[in-house]
Amino acid sequence: MKPGSHDSSQNFQTVLQARFPRRTFLQYAAGAGTATLWGALPGCSSELQPHTHDTLSGAAPAWQFDTVPQGLDTRLTLPDGYDYQVLLRWGDPLFPDSAKFDPLQQTGEKQARQFGFNNDYVGFLPLPLGSDNSEHGLLTINHEHTKARLMHPGIRSEGQLDQEQTRVDIAAHGLSVIEVKKQQSGWQVVKGSDYTRRITPDTPMQLTGAAAGHPWLQTQHSEDGIATLGTYGNCAGGITPWGTILTAEENFDKYFSGDVDKLAQKDNFRRYGFSGEQEKNWSQYEERWDLNKHPGEAFHMGWIVEIDPYDPNSVPKKRTGLGRFKHEGANVTIAPDGRAVAYSGDDEKFEYVYRFVSRDTYKPGNDNASRAHNMQLLENGVLSVARFSENGTLSWLPLVHGKGPLTVKNGFNNQAEVLLNTRKAADLLGATPMDRPEDVDINPVSGKVYVMLTKNDSRQPDALNGPNPRAYNRGGQIIELLPPESSAQQRDHCADEFRWEVLLLAGKPEPHNAQNVTFYHPDTDENGWLACPDNCAFDTQGNIWVTTDGAEDFGVADGVWWVVAEGEKRGYAQRFMRAPVGAEVCGPCFTPDNRSFFCAIQHPGGDSNFDQPDTRWPDYAAELPPRPALIVVTQTR
Ligand code: FEO
Ligand code: CA
Ligand code: CA
Repeated sequence: MKPGSHDSSQNFQTVLQARFPRRTFLQYAAGAGTATLWGALPGCSSELQPHTHDTLSGAAPAWQFDTVPQGLDTRLTLPDGYDYQVLLRWGDPLFPDSAKFDPLQQTGEKQARQFGFNNDYVGFLPLPLGSDNSEHGLLTINHEHTKARLMHPGIRSEGQLDQEQTRVDIAAHGLSVIEVKKQQSGWQVVKGSDYTRRITPDTPMQLTGAAAGHPWLQTQHSEDGIATLGTYGNCAGGITPWGTILTAEENFDKYFSGDVDKLAQKDNFRRYGFSGEQEKNWSQYEERWDLNKHPGEAFHMGWIVEIDPYDPNSVPKKRTGLGRFKHEGANVTIAPDGRAVAYSGDDEKFEYVYRFVSRDTYKPGNDNASRAHNMQLLENGVLSVARFSENGTLSWLPLVHGKGPLTVKNGFNNQAEVLLNTRKAADLLGATPMDRPEDVDINPVSGKVYVMLTKNDSRQPDALNGPNPRAYNRGGQIIELLPPESSAQQRDHCADEFRWEVLLLAGKPEPHNAQNVTFYHPDTDENGWLACPDNCAFDTQGNIWVTTDGAEDFGVADGVWWVVAEGEKRGYAQRFMRAPVGAEVCGPCFTPDNRSFFCAIQHPGGDSNFDQPDTRWPDYAAELPPRPALIVVTQTR
């Protein structure tokens, strides 16, 4: 049994009753009694302790809208009164010298000057730096991964790519930075902007923090273990208060091939999921991805990378202090004492939720000296991992060399090895295994922290725990972390102990199916349920805008939902967007004035292929495949 789980003697209902706020729970039960879709929760009743909500009373969302019905088709659907513009699609030229997109004549060289594939995270930073301008800014966009079958005619698997197609594949990863401006006619990408940048798996970068320079990182491409090349598998990310972007390296194991059992650090490789059977065939043409020739390359991956989009010549920094795992993203807030706090989830089944607290404190201001100081904040600090208790408390367990089990005896020679082996260190500390932690983000209105747990169909009935209360979990859940209130309106994100609550248990409500019991505010109707929460954004009223990745397993499109975090309607959900078939929606982000909503439409067409795609969104041109694209949603009235 994994640490933090408990046995079957503590069944689902016990866990649920122990951790649900009384009011919401009883409301749910009342809803169940009205013969709707909602499955009844047996046993919920009067022995529950009274619960008082925090002071926020709940607020109308930034945007009022009539719900979008559930459904699944080839188009992107929004409520009446809203429209979207496509800003950039895979292959669109970014620079004056970029080649025009032609999927039949694509090369790696062209791709490196064009918008990449499978856009995920989207971060908006205003221009000028430090302003709250909502009509002019920089967008930084992750290109998480590629799908060869949708990029090339005749291709059905990644292993079929030839050398030039592999170069395209590599160059389609990384990030894009663009300048955008709102004009009378709508949002425009500023052509020829000096800010425009493509970052790829070949862009020079640096490792910083305690792990930088460790011998495992010294490779043919990095004699000092500090210099490093590029980033890939960039899933979500975050914006720092000092105006940089954090981008998260997630599924990095997929890119490497080789015999893992022959590696000196084979236990480490196994713990990170390396099987030697790579999904990509990059190593066939670039031996950097051959584990047996260059085992150290893999230690350059699995980090949070900090990028300054305001300086297109800046060298991105891999912040090893935030740990090495399959980071979904990283989101930063400033604690009342001035320290920077970053939250991050390790997105794999039974992995953990982490928090980094900086050693030094934030200096307000955007002058060069303050900014240079703040850009060092993620270099030194303490990384901790979350252990949730059934009684509603959460303990942050520090990953510090020499503390507890993190000793030489257990294979950790120094702090660098704790960071390089973050997952093992967290195992030994007894962290709580979660149902795939995706975004962990801070609500700027309440200071509460929300964890999107996307799903975990491998969780067995004897391995349930408080925040992961369902076996064979297909729908995911949203958990709320509550730092103690240090003073009015301020929460102490550095505290050793938090409390936690369940906001909702997602999935399609199905009566009489104990494994798939769902939990929403009872006013949520048949178009409101969602499944597999992945990313989130907050409006200025503190409502959560949730994007999903997996609703098609329940027969409906992925998309965007408005979810109420506070007050009488806490846990209420309503569908705002339906993605085209096969696509998920990623990287939601509002401009500061809440009038524009950027997001990424990733993998439209899903598992279909270039020759016979399930949709041709967004071009609907017979000669073009579906293309992942960055869009902006605005109100039309
Ligand atoms: Fe790339 Fe965690 O989804
Ligand atoms: Ca994600
Ligand atoms: Ca995803």
